[in-house]
Amino acid sequence: KFENLAPTPPMGWNSWNSFECEGVNETVIKEMADAMVEKGLRAAGYEYIVIDDCWQIGRDDNGYIIVDKDKFPSGIKSLADYVHSKGLKFGIYSDAGTKTCAGRPGSKGFEMQDAETYAKWGVDYLKYDWCFTEGQEAIASYTLMRDALYKAGRPIVFSLCEWGENKPWEWGKEVGHLWRTTLDIDMNGRYDGNIWGNLIGWSDLVDMQVGLEKYAGPGHWNDPDMLAVGNNDMPENEARAHFSMWSMLAAPLMAGNDLRTMNATDQHILTHKGLLEVNQDVLGKQGFKIVDLGNFEIWQKPLSNGDVAICFFNRDIATKTYEVDWTKINIKDFSAEDVYQIKDLWADKMMGNTGEKIAIEVPSRDVIVYRLSK
Ligand code: DGJ
Repeated sequence: KFENLAPTPPMGWNSWNSFECEGVNETVIKEMADAMVEKGLRAAGYEYIVIDDCWQIGRDDNGYIIVDKDKFPSGIKSLADYVHSKGLKFGIYSDAGTKTCAGRPGSKGFEMQDAETYAKWGVDYLKYDWCFTEGQEAIASYTLMRDALYKAGRPIVFSLCEWGENKPWEWGKEVGHLWRTTLDIDMNGRYDGNIWGNLIGWSDLVDMQVGLEKYAGPGHWNDPDMLAVGNNDMPENEARAHFSMWSMLAAPLMAGNDLRTMNATDQHILTHKGLLEVNQDVLGKQGFKIVDLGNFEIWQKPLSNGDVAICFFNRDIATKTYEVDWTKINIKDFSAEDVYQIKDLWADKMMGNTGEKIAIEVPSRDVIVYRLSK
């Protein structure tokens, strides 16, 4: 495994949530790289442009992967060069089994050959899926590709995508840089209610991260799946709450919306400096829940320099009014004698200090995120 490739959670864009199989092609990828720069995402720290499923169509007589020329007429190498020319990094997708989930060729039996191909093309990131893996053992399958990437010699971030079935948090650190903990986020931006087919509303994904915080740290991250911000007109409050929770969870931030047509609100959310500083904090701690009142929760993320991020998450359809007593909300490593200055990150406003109680109102399905500093 290449160390130090993901000291903070990877940030980028992936084609799946907006384009799935049918919509992905080289024009889309190029235009997304352009938009990443033009819309300020690169400047905000987004780095990877990742093609998900459906770029590959078969194998030649020597076993080399064949690119789908209808979708990618110029080939993958030239696309990677284009992405690199924009000051971005380039990612690709394959599958540990015989086929990808969309039925394209998987890497089983061709791991070394594929890893060499990716290295030759200039790939910087590989997402490795888990369809058509009957009879395969997850740790062995992912380790095989890890070793192939290592031998191929090009530093490649390795993203494990086996949906949490084999508890990858327990072994993923040795094998890759991030691992999916669940099935897919509902890319239509739905909130909760759990499971439409294989799709899960984002607030339910939050629940599924509870207890996993001890497995994440610099270089190895729990991945509750890509962002649905900007998809299917997810309302502003939910987009803000979803993005805030992913930031608190030190989750990889892979945007999945169409950056070319993104509105100003989603752009503001995805590039919010204060929240990105929480997500990308070098301490690399995943946030955890410290108060649970049913539909209202308080989460904490320890930050470097002794700072603390606190997120008040209202899941309800009604506004929640709450009086924060800083000595009583169970903040870990919080010393009541120390007084912290409070900054409301979304409002971009100083709010006094933790020496006093503070009354807050959190709108429906929204958050207030504070950064506390001594
Ligand atoms: C399942 C994964 O979980 C998705 O993120 C996406 O990569 C699809 N497969 C592609 O087929």
